[in-house]
Amino acid sequence: MQIVVTGGAGFIGSQLVHLLLETRPEWQIVNFDALTYSGNLENVAGLEANSRYRFLRGDVADPEAAAQALAGADAVIHLAAESHVDRSIQDAGDFIRTNVTGTQTLLDAARRGRLSRFVQVSTDEVYGSLGNEGRFSETSPLAPNSPYAASKAAADLLARAAFHTHGVPVIITRASNNYGPRQFPEKLIPLVISNALAGEPVPLYGRGENVRNWIHAADHCRGILVALERGTPGEIYNFGGDDELDNLSLVKRLLRLAGAGEELIRYVADRLGHDFRYSLDSSRARRELGWRPEIALDAGLTATVDWYRQHPAWLRRARGGDFQSYYARQYEVRLQPAAAPAATHRPTEKSC
Ligand code: NAD
Ligand code: TYD
Repeated sequence: MQIVVTGGAGFIGSQLVHLLLETRPEWQIVNFDALTYSGNLENVAGLEANSRYRFLRGDVADPEAAAQALAGADAVIHLAAESHVDRSIQDAGDFIRTNVTGTQTLLDAARRGRLSRFVQVSTDEVYGSLGNEGRFSETSPLAPNSPYAASKAAADLLARAAFHTHGVPVIITRASNNYGPRQFPEKLIPLVISNALAGEPVPLYGRGENVRNWIHAADHCRGILVALERGTPGEIYNFGGDDELDNLSLVKRLLRLAGAGEELIRYVADRLGHDFRYSLDSSRARRELGWRPEIALDAGLTATVDWYRQHPAWLRRARGGDFQSYYARQYEVRLQPAAAPAATHRPTEKSC
């Protein structure tokens, strides 16, 4: 089996590449990645020596590169994406190009091949936002609220159309918020850990009341693998962790684990259109794929903080380059004392 993993130099993709090489000794893995700001070959360091692994630098939205990557492939697991909501609010252009056009480009290349599976790795954010109650199932309507979520929903629909129209054997997976080692420090958990380790302020949007459903990336990757092996083409599988937490409680836990005090917390202007709560019903994956998350949040967060503590050079490099100008753009105004009013998106609000 030759498997193409797109985005395999990123946070989740790199964990998946390691998992596939370790647990499927017959498989050849092609890691197809453009190495954008969040792609990092350090995440797959050491694998070049493995004869079952090949890195191919290229853009999923480039038809020639996509065709070259998929030549001879038996399956594709598509993770390459622009993945950060705040960046999509600053500028949605790259999200449309990579997440929408890039996915269609890969699906077109897949049509010409002899693939047995095309796994479209997606997110619970396509379902929109919940109030205090309820969970999203695979049949919940798509109601994305951020440009990032809308671009992923568009990609999911294009993948669905490729299945129905052209018979591309698409399986869609949707996971809740991931955490774990090697996550780019723009997302909440690695941002809090890296700021806390450096003794810097930790920005909390609004009042820190928004709720996320956390899953360790290793549990998510095991889900993607069982979806590939046991899932049915044309179907969707949710993968949510067992833990739901409001942001303030999570940040307090992280600060404690990093040995920092709560005085580092800065309440800053809310994210525009900020989804209030995500929660995934994963009973289908449990029932039909025999999957369940194995890493409890406490143990996972402790190990994650330790990983960042033990990898200062990785963190320093990730926080260099474009990161400083992104950070200044995103937080300079917010870290001033007078925060703007909250803008949390609650599902009870009138929707279009
Ligand atoms: P990430 O930002 O860490 O990694 C994205 C990877 O894609 C990088 O290696 C980057 O270089 C590559 N990439 C970006 N644009 C590309 C292009 N045009 N061509 C080829 N490669 C390109 O993201 P992540 O957090 O690892 O997320 C991976 C996937 O999982 C995404 O599709 C995301 O939507 C999905 N997902 C993420 C989460 C989460 O909490 N992080 C949750 C559910 C689903
Ligand atoms: P994030 O990690 O960006 O994931 P997502 O937006 O995809 O859920 O954010 C997780 C939560 O943390 C979300 O409610 C926004 C909030 N947040 C902050 O309060 N401060 C921050 O600096 C960031 C990046 C996020």
